[in-house]
Amino acid sequence: MIRQFASLCLLFGTAWTTIPQHNGYNVVFSDDFNGDQGSAVDGSKWDHHVPNKNNNDEVQHYTYGTDNAHLSGDGQLYIIPKKKGNDWYSAKLLSVGKWTPGAGKALLFEAEIWVPNFTGSPDKFAGLWPAFWAKGNSDRISNPVKWPKNGEWDILEVTNKMSNQNQATLHFIDASGQHNGAFNGRVTYTGGKYHTWAVKVDRRKDDWKAQTLTWYLDGNQFYQVTGAMIGTLDQWKELAWSPFYIVLNVALGGGYAGNPTENTISGYDASMRVRYVGVYETV
Ligand SMILES: *[C@@H]1O[C@H](CO)[C@@H](O)[C@H](O)[C@H]1NC(C)=O
Repeated sequence: MIRQFASLCLLFGTAWTTIPQHNGYNVVFSDDFNGDQGSAVDGSKWDHHVPNKNNNDEVQHYTYGTDNAHLSGDGQLYIIPKKKGNDWYSAKLLSVGKWTPGAGKALLFEAEIWVPNFTGSPDKFAGLWPAFWAKGNSDRISNPVKWPKNGEWDILEVTNKMSNQNQATLHFIDASGQHNGAFNGRVTYTGGKYHTWAVKVDRRKDDWKAQTLTWYLDGNQFYQVTGAMIGTLDQWKELAWSPFYIVLNVALGGGYAGNPTENTISGYDASMRVRYVGVYETV
């Protein structure tokens, strides 16, 4: 049945995604976003997040349903911001699952993503803020651990203001008890084409201070944080020994992105597209 189906796909020339394998790792979660054109994401894997109030002075209204997030029909997830009247609508998906590396293991969170070509900061993309990130699951349990103690890893978050730069950022509470969002690393990338973005949380060293969180673009490391840099074992356990869930969204506005203007385009050309998301653990 599966083989027949695969050959039918070949016959009709559809380019459905398969999840890449990584040597030495097992796939513990994946979504290849295969499905009918216009259909909803798999509800067993993704929840829509529709808050009453936005963070960061963002201006979008997140929606349920398929208007702002749906499958392409050829193996992609589209998150499509749209302007209706003076209002912007978009989508934010949270993984239902959450993952943490076992002691002595490493875990890789990876996604292949297309974002608009922000190079040169063209006005038509002002205010768009597509992102692939992850948050410590302890903020969505009863008696939640409040942000940023629960930890946030920003893997891809790009904007028109940032042109062709992506910034990896970690959010946590530092040894003085303050929010620290100053650990970041930038990398140059080209929008308007697919790239693979990943973060690896690595607990394979016995000494927690030598354990790492590492960010990758197309398999190349561009930023790394060690336990020693975080300073306290208590906070490192939140960042690297605790389950994290994945967030995929396109926000609009706020300080990081700048506000959308009259020239900001709405619809497919402003979308974020995702070919797959995979979580992998060392064998
Ligand atoms: C992105 O835009 C820059 C500046 O206009 C251009 O040089 C580059 O070729 C574009 N890249 C793609 C993949 O379209």
